[in-house]
Amino acid sequence: MEQTLSIIKPDAVKKGVIGKIVDRFESNGLRIAAMKKVQLDASKAGDFYAVHKDRPFYGELVEFMTSGPVVILVLEGEDAMAKNRDLMGATNPKEAAKGTIRADFADSIDANAVHGSDSLENAANEIKFFFSKEEVI
Ligand code: CMP
Repeated sequence: MEQTLSIIKPDAVKKGVIGKIVDRFESNGLRIAAMKKVQLDASKAGDFYAVHKDRPFYGELVEFMTSGPVVILVLEGEDAMAKNRDLMGATNPKEAAKGTIRADFADSIDANAVHGSDSLENAANEIKFFFSKEEVI
């Protein structure tokens, strides 16, 4: 069993597709081990994406991630990390395969509907970043 972190980003929350995205996870064998809706501030979003702090899109990324509430989830299941990435599709929705979350719900590389951990090590760190042990069930 693996755990991975998912964030339903402000664009998808604003569109009212939280339930549709959660259904993609549950319909594909990923169990919701934790879920909360939060408004990130610039400090929290900036720290979360610190790995990108030297990239030209960092400022816009932090601004976008703080533009409205997000829903943060811990997904659990067999191959959860890779499975979630398959369900999300490519970072740029223009390149995302048909039927993926980003192909169906995202508008641009910035407003790309969801974030998902890209390695098991990052998943463990990202889960710890947002959730206490007691919150992951
Ligand atoms: P995410 O998986 O949340 O991780 C970092 C985010 O930066 C990424 O999704 C995109 O929404 C955003 N981003 C903006 N421009 C780029 C880019 N050129 N390459 C990668 N990510 C980008």
